[in-house]
Amino acid sequence: MSGIKVVTIGGGSSYTPELVEGLIKRYGELPVQELWLVDIPEGEEKLNIVGALAKRMVEKAGVPMKIHLTLDRRQALRDADFVTTQFRVGLLDARAKDESIPLKYGVIGQETNGPGGLFKALRTIPVMLEIATDMEEFCPDAWLINFTNPAGMVTEALLRCSPLEKVVGLCNVPIGMQMGIAKMLQVEADRIHIDFAGLNHMVFGLNVYLDGENITEKLIQQFLSGEKSGVTMENIVDLGWEPAFIEGLKILPCPYHRYYYQTDRILDEEMEAAKTKGTRAQVVQKLEADLFELYKDPDLAVKPPQLEKRGGAYYSDAACRLIHSIYNDKGDIQPVNTKNNGAIQGIPADSAVEVNCVITKDGPKPITVGELPVPVQGLVQQIKSFERVTVEAAVTGDYNTALVAMTINPLVPSDKVAKQLLDEMLEAHQAYLPQFFEKVDV
Ligand code: G6P
Repeated sequence: MSGIKVVTIGGGSSYTPELVEGLIKRYGELPVQELWLVDIPEGEEKLNIVGALAKRMVEKAGVPMKIHLTLDRRQALRDADFVTTQFRVGLLDARAKDESIPLKYGVIGQETNGPGGLFKALRTIPVMLEIATDMEEFCPDAWLINFTNPAGMVTEALLRCSPLEKVVGLCNVPIGMQMGIAKMLQVEADRIHIDFAGLNHMVFGLNVYLDGENITEKLIQQFLSGEKSGVTMENIVDLGWEPAFIEGLKILPCPYHRYYYQTDRILDEEMEAAKTKGTRAQVVQKLEADLFELYKDPDLAVKPPQLEKRGGAYYSDAACRLIHSIYNDKGDIQPVNTKNNGAIQGIPADSAVEVNCVITKDGPKPITVGELPVPVQGLVQQIKSFERVTVEAAVTGDYNTALVAMTINPLVPSDKVAKQLLDEMLEAHQAYLPQFFEKVDV
């Protein structure tokens, strides 16, 4: 391979400067000659602003990477080597509905694995499968690196319902946990290694090592001191864990586990926030507006630190690290979303799991975990059932299947509430759900 071509779908995203920074940093070993930023007409203004910043960043860094901006996805995909996806169907307005409608029913919306996540999946999966079809036509040998949320379900759909085989899902939660722990211990992040296993936003740290020494127990003690755990993301309030619970669990939960193990407290926080500063979508809308004002500055030629206020901060490090390892056949270990293939017992072989993998030029090879610890097996399986049923609903547009998905989500209290939620959310998102509303009688 010479002269790598990367295509980023959703290139007008406020996160793009992270990706560009990551590619610039690694240029020596990962010579990306073309970066195509693709968006839709509604995103054109943002694409132009962030694209101009990307061009200034590349020029300042003095790397010969050519940035192309386009609204023509099919043209962009031609002969790509890596395709990254980071788009939001319906933009942040749709997320605001995903978060606020459930709150009216006393339910957390959670845009990735609550009722909000169900709807985000229903909107996103059909679009992602169209992208996969275009890739099959224009760049069948390319790798698809997906960070579009809900990353677990989107990756599941790509693995099971698309013709593509070279698909990897990525999230910043594992890298965020590694960095949080490093900060807590005041050491460099690369001295920390974590055995990750589970699902996207449902991943556990089974063991944590510092310079090869297993420090899980010690860390759990540190986790216990203090009101804050020290390991969270910008988008999730850092409520401390009940010490005896984590001590009994003996493994590290991820920040998203708060939604399941601290449901009432998180709900209170979100209700309160909705009254004062707005839901996270509304907070992010303001943050984004500020970021794009900064991006417009013709003197700005680096990623501004304000981007770290977004929950997805550092995702590009994970993405560039992964692309780098595939391209260079590194054989290093990274946590990614990939086909289980028996790595985690009790999860179907063809399902997506988030697990440590050896990264080679042939993609991620999952490291066998075996059984997850008994206390978490059930929840992980429950979420996997929710994910699989959601994927089926997204592909078929079948109402009853969507209702089953909504009802089995652990954040939803009953079938009745599930139906009320489903009906109101289907109506609110109708414009982005053709599979439910544009049925042709045969
Ligand atoms: C986390 C998740 C990402 C998600 C982000 C939301 O970090 O891992 O999947 O996109 O938070 O952040 P935001 O700033 O949009 O609330």
